[in-house]
Amino acid sequence: MEEWIKAGKIGAEILTFAKSQAKPGILLLDLAEKIDKKILELGAKPAFPINLSINHMAAHYTPVKEDKFILNETDILKIDMGAHIDGYISDTALTIGPNKELIKASEEALKEAIKFARPGVQIRKIGAVVQDVITSYNFSPIKNLSGHQIKRYDLHAGVTIPNYDNGNTAELEEGMVIAIEPFATDGKGKVGEGKPSSIYRLIKKKPLRDPTSKKILNYIEKEYSTLPFCKRWLQNKFPQSAFTLKILENQGIIKQYCQLPEASKGLVSQAEHTVLVKDKPVILTKRK
Ligand code: CO
Repeated sequence: MEEWIKAGKIGAEILTFAKSQAKPGILLLDLAEKIDKKILELGAKPAFPINLSINHMAAHYTPVKEDKFILNETDILKIDMGAHIDGYISDTALTIGPNKELIKASEEALKEAIKFARPGVQIRKIGAVVQDVITSYNFSPIKNLSGHQIKRYDLHAGVTIPNYDNGNTAELEEGMVIAIEPFATDGKGKVGEGKPSSIYRLIKKKPLRDPTSKKILNYIEKEYSTLPFCKRWLQNKFPQSAFTLKILENQGIIKQYCQLPEASKGLVSQAEHTVLVKDKPVILTKRK
């Protein structure tokens, strides 16, 4: 638990830092690299590539090396980050931008839902609370995105924490670590599959003949284990990695995630904390 608490504190600190840096005019790539650097400086590792999803993009947007996107003052930006220490992961997110009510809807939903992160509470209840709060703001929760249980080196482990009443009567248990992450939108409340995200995960190691591919795969296994990684990180280390990633993907060794845009092009906000389930729930990623 000690490591988990520490990873949570670092997550909170990074998110505060990221918010202070995310000013209109910044290149999204620069923001991502500043956050990458800060995580290492604080003694943790990224648990997944920082998600910097803008406007109707709900999740899974991370800049590539060639990214030219500059943050505009009219943009609504979700910053979703993960840090881990020895596999103990914290996962936390916030939203900035001019759409104050939309941002408040996901924040309030999170705040209310956390109160129910107690042993014996049915999982559907968390979703129902999220849905009630978001709809009270006249927005919709995104139903096909959800929070999740977290285990060591396993970001999406065990139970799913829904953003609506999904009917799951299973109960939360003392000591579980869960990420609750409400998404609110002025659209229909559903994400579709977008373009390839440049975020990957190792699926199954296979023998390779090409020495460069072999070297890069070994690096992936050693550095990221089963956790997601991105093209940007590898490009910093191996200039030829874009080509290798294609090979590894074609062979089913790694899997690439899709970007997740809101299907009706609605604007999206997100809030997220990693929470320890207890009679008095503990927010591991609480910001000061
Ligand atoms: Co999460």
